Amino acid sequence: MKIDGQPFRTIWEKADEPGVIQIIDQRHLPHQLMIENLRRLSDFAKAIKDMHVRGAPLIGATAAYGLYSAMLEAPADKRRLPKYIRKAADTLLQTRPTAVNLAYAIRYSLQKIDTQADLEGKTAAALQAARDITEESVEHCRLIGQHGLPLIEAISKRKNGAPVNILTHCNAGWIACIDHGTATAPIYAAHDAGIPVHVWVDETRPRNQGARITAFELLQHGVPHTVIADNTGGHLMQHGQVDLAIVGSDRTTRQGDVANKIGTYLKALAAKDNGVPFYVALPSSTFDFEVVDGVLEIPIEERSADEVRYIQGMRNGKVFKVLLTPVDSPAANYAFDVTPARLVSGLITERGICEATEDSIARMFPEFSLP
Ligand code: MRU
Repeated sequence: MKIDGQPFRTIWEKADEPGVIQIIDQRHLPHQLMIENLRRLSDFAKAIKDMHVRGAPLIGATAAYGLYSAMLEAPADKRRLPKYIRKAADTLLQTRPTAVNLAYAIRYSLQKIDTQADLEGKTAAALQAARDITEESVEHCRLIGQHGLPLIEAISKRKNGAPVNILTHCNAGWIACIDHGTATAPIYAAHDAGIPVHVWVDETRPRNQGARITAFELLQHGVPHTVIADNTGGHLMQHGQVDLAIVGSDRTTRQGDVANKIGTYLKALAAKDNGVPFYVALPSSTFDFEVVDGVLEIPIEERSADEVRYIQGMRNGKVFKVLLTPVDSPAANYAFDVTPARLVSGLITERGICEATEDSIARMFPEFSLP
């Protein structure tokens, strides 16, 4: 995708410095476009934990590059190597608990590293694994766009070409992935095909990924949109102003329960009550086939209460934070919630759209179904 007309991805290898990986530091968007260099394992772990990068697919790709970076600093002593690699993998795995793409990327990288005998081979394998995960994410998101497009096309036809109003939550756009996005991929595909769309962008408290990042992306791509306070969706649905909701996912269980940014569940409830189709767009790397009941089993990240207590803005060219709450009020910050499968109209994946049921998911991804 593009920022100010320049093609961008969210993570890339620095052309003139082998071993250095560059990212967009998302904490400063939309006000400042800051590029950060990541050089060692601790930089990658910090970038994921403190959300310089965020969004399930991008967390996965960053972790894979983090493991490659760890390999560049690995001890030459062969006997120490397995323990060193395990520790580096654990450091990355401990950064954020909910997005399962992280575990997927580490598992894939470790498998590739294991196929090689010496350090040089293992390092090259780690780099190739990170590149594979990155390219796979781009292609899967592109395909999600192609498979989701007919949903929007059909609504557009029904509305005789009037703009299709789509509600989305958080940022499941290209900045949360490497390119295209998950929830936004069908939206970009429709817009690029000349289908009029308009996006309701939930602000997504407390970190405001919708207001800051989704709005920025859509603006850059010329997609008509309106930022709304988080609690507005139900009202809009009651008044026929939402044709379709599409969100992303951080982890989806084998029976179709969806963990996504806090507040997703309430949107799904409102959608059900108002007969609004509620779709989840996700690549296969976001499925956790070992988990059945998402509400009981998916770990929900709790972040610093200060993310709720303070709000970030910009004045006179400077990004700064202000305190919202009384100084002494405690706050709680659950970063995700789980939307039960019964509220999900369908899952848009790189292979097509399936129902959020164990049978339908298993038919779409037979190689993953457990006996
Ligand atoms: O806490 P974040 O910003 O990493 O959460 C991101 C989301 O919840 C996204 O909707 C999800 O990762 C899907 S990304 C394509």
